[in-house]
Amino acid sequence: MAPQIIAIIGAGIFVKSQYLPRLAEISDLVSLKCIWSRSQKSALEAVEAAKNVFPSVECKYGDDGLDEIVNDTSIVAVIVALAGQIQVDMSLKLLKAGKHVLQEKPAAASISELETALSSYNSLHNNQPTQNIWAVAENYRFEPAFVESRKLVSEIGDMMSVQVIIEGSMNSSNPYFSSSWRRNFTGGFILDMGVHYIAGLRMMVGCEVASVSAMTSHVDMTLPPPDTISSIFQLENGCSGVFVMLVSSRSPKIIWRVVGLSGTVQVERGNKDGRHGYVVTLFSAKGETTSTFYPFSGVTEELKAFLSDVSKSTLQKGSKIEAEARCSFVEGARDVAVLDAMLESGIKQGASVMVKKF
Ligand SMILES: *[C@@H]1O[C@H](CO)[C@@H](O)[C@H](O)[C@H]1NC(C)=O
Ligand SMILES: *[C@@H]1O[C@H](CO)[C@@H](O)[C@H](O)[C@H]1NC(C)=O
Ligand SMILES: *[C@@H]1O[C@H](CO)[C@@H](O)[C@H](O)[C@H]1NC(C)=O
Repeated sequence: MAPQIIAIIGAGIFVKSQYLPRLAEISDLVSLKCIWSRSQKSALEAVEAAKNVFPSVECKYGDDGLDEIVNDTSIVAVIVALAGQIQVDMSLKLLKAGKHVLQEKPAAASISELETALSSYNSLHNNQPTQNIWAVAENYRFEPAFVESRKLVSEIGDMMSVQVIIEGSMNSSNPYFSSSWRRNFTGGFILDMGVHYIAGLRMMVGCEVASVSAMTSHVDMTLPPPDTISSIFQLENGCSGVFVMLVSSRSPKIIWRVVGLSGTVQVERGNKDGRHGYVVTLFSAKGETTSTFYPFSGVTEELKAFLSDVSKSTLQKGSKIEAEARCSFVEGARDVAVLDAMLESGIKQGASVMVKKF
């Protein structure tokens, strides 16, 4: 496959700490033509960081820089990694200009924005045979630990109970702690971080969350509200579970556990040999315990899947390709919908709320 020519829109922490190093690992598949930011200063910083791997990468900024990217037909795909409040508008603008888009999660900030986004996207190709790809980057769906745990969950018999316990570590040592847009986002860090944990849950159980009931609170005043959520939920397969999330705690712990009639599967964040990842454990009916450590690789895997779809679409111009479902916009929308229902229930003192279906 020839390298796909792409641009990055955004030059924030995630672009510098994740996209650039991960794209560097697959530089045979991708050619980074430019990085855009609203300000010249941040675009330049990211360009400097990208230069050792992509020596000809250009710096673009402001409205003119954006127009140049929109008009540049050699750029086939764009990664959008901006503030959560403005990503959808930017993605739609680039889709209209004929680019394939991989947008950072969360898919959108609210149910109404998700609905508008999907109807705008669908109307873009009303009179066209092909559709540009609008992908949402959710690395959890590509983490080998979740791919494996889903297989294991299908082997433990009828599902009896699910527990998701997230004690995060979003304190002042974390680079995202002072991110201004996350502090001005409805749902605060719960929504921005929480979509990952919901994606992990949905991957593992292989079915949708139907309804939720939740309590939310704001205890740590260094964080935006809410900073805790305690929810019970029911899956479409009838099984119930709990989802507990604290944005910041002194003793971080991140764990998903699915109990079946003939075994239990658990995924827990951990480290091995200095690498971060997940330990997947199967507790069998015979009382045996087997654990496997899977280092993180979801961001790289999702980038490869997107680039492969872009390549297919370029080669088969005029025909509709089946893009990887795990990074479709609608999958990202489903993660947001679950948290949106929990946050709404929290506002209503725990009233049962149906999760909006997408
Ligand atoms: C982009 O294309 C539009 C329409 O063809 C044109 O009006 C505009 O000047 C172009 N902008 C740049 C920066 O090239
Ligand atoms: C933030 O959390 C991490 C992980 O628990 C911990 O190592 C670090 O000391 C904490 N920093 C502050 C300022 O509390
Ligand atoms: C916060 O978000 C609102 C709407 O999303 C926006 O109008 C406002 O300018 C933002 N404030 C800051 C400080 O970013």
